[in-house]
Amino acid sequence: MKTYLVTGGAGFIGSNFVHYMLNKYEDIKLINFDKLTYAGNLENLKAVEGKANYVFVQGDICDKELVEGLFEKYDIDYVVNFAAESHVDRSIKMPEIFAQTNVLGTVTLLNAAKKAWEVNGSWKEGKKFLQVSTDEVYGSLGNTGYFTETTPLDPHSPYSSSKTGADLMVKAYADTYKMPVNITRCSNNYGPYQFPEKLIPLLINNCLNKRTLPVYGDGLNVRDWLYVEDHCKAIDMVINNGKLGEVYNVGGHNERTNIQIVKTVIAYLNESVDKEITEALIKYVEDRKGHDRRYGIDPEKIKNELGWYPETTFEVGIKKTIQWYLDNQEWMKHVTSGEYQNYYDKMYEGK
Ligand code: NAD
Ligand code: DAU
Repeated sequence: MKTYLVTGGAGFIGSNFVHYMLNKYEDIKLINFDKLTYAGNLENLKAVEGKANYVFVQGDICDKELVEGLFEKYDIDYVVNFAAESHVDRSIKMPEIFAQTNVLGTVTLLNAAKKAWEVNGSWKEGKKFLQVSTDEVYGSLGNTGYFTETTPLDPHSPYSSSKTGADLMVKAYADTYKMPVNITRCSNNYGPYQFPEKLIPLLINNCLNKRTLPVYGDGLNVRDWLYVEDHCKAIDMVINNGKLGEVYNVGGHNERTNIQIVKTVIAYLNESVDKEITEALIKYVEDRKGHDRRYGIDPEKIKNELGWYPETTFEVGIKKTIQWYLDNQEWMKHVTSGEYQNYYDKMYEGK
């Protein structure tokens, strides 16, 4: 029985991953360690609460004692590090917490894993540290080409720079101490439980509340969208079969301009709700500072080496996602109350 330490498992991708793994495998133990910041929500995990092979622990990945205590209490085989500050706009306003959690938190986890897994200079069998990273570490593309695993790292925002710092520390632990690691770098995810500060759930929420739909700059920045479950599948495959020390890019060749995404969400929502939602809600606003123009992943390595491929087309995924938000408006109410509402009002004041 393998024991997984999943950090950030109460967030968007982390909670989808917890569901994915506990549905797929009966013979694993999963410890979900999460600080429960504004982005972490135990409501995402109601379906697994009380399962004998699932444990939730609240805490900060920067807390050395607490993290080391987890390795003492449980015989952890795999660390899957999702825990992070994840929103680019927030990183532009408050970079410190990104450096703290994303870089120092990752180092705290690496150290605790090293302490538990390295005995007299040798590594215990079957252990692995998987760092969940992002395509944003590669910077921005022009109109052509894709990010491969050998594309030079060239991050621009405090968020992507902090994720790059974390990746480099993971690489340093592999190169220096021979720690067993993998890094995955995925494109933009969408799906259930995504916090509505991110483009797709923000659009859905604003459409339903007749708020304006803020489009940064000219709306022609391109993102490469992947349904979250396909990302979870990739991570599972990399943990189980990824070659030690390797980086794997994850993406499904599904590029869209932001304005295409906005118009698609409006069109599909109109098929599902009574009230008419019009494109008059669209408002072009000031561009994001340092806004990366285009992301596009070349997924050939993970396809060829591990047989991964995305199962959900964008048309199916976006309809499922919209339906999930329509069915879970109470969830939306809870996560958009309090601190988020204050943040949102400040971000969009005057826009
Ligand atoms: P999220 O913001 O929805 O969730 C982050 C989770 O981490 C939350 O549950 C939060 O409470 C927890 N957390 C934050 N700081 C913590 C700390 N100090 N200690 C413990 N827990 C902490 O993020 P997400 O979108 O689910 O992203 C998860 C990971 O995947 C991140 O590392 C992100 O960089 C990466 N990633 C995200 C995407 C995407 O499109 N969302 C794409 C590629 C990679
Ligand atoms: O590429 C992977 C990354 O995708 C992850 O590493 C990040 O954690 C995740 O947040 C996401 O980053 P982006 O900045 O691409 O996602 P976001 O949803 O914030 O924005 C998507 C695009 O939409 C981007 O070009 C900015 C634009 N945008 C966003 C918001 C919130 C708007 O035009 N209006 C908005 O209101």
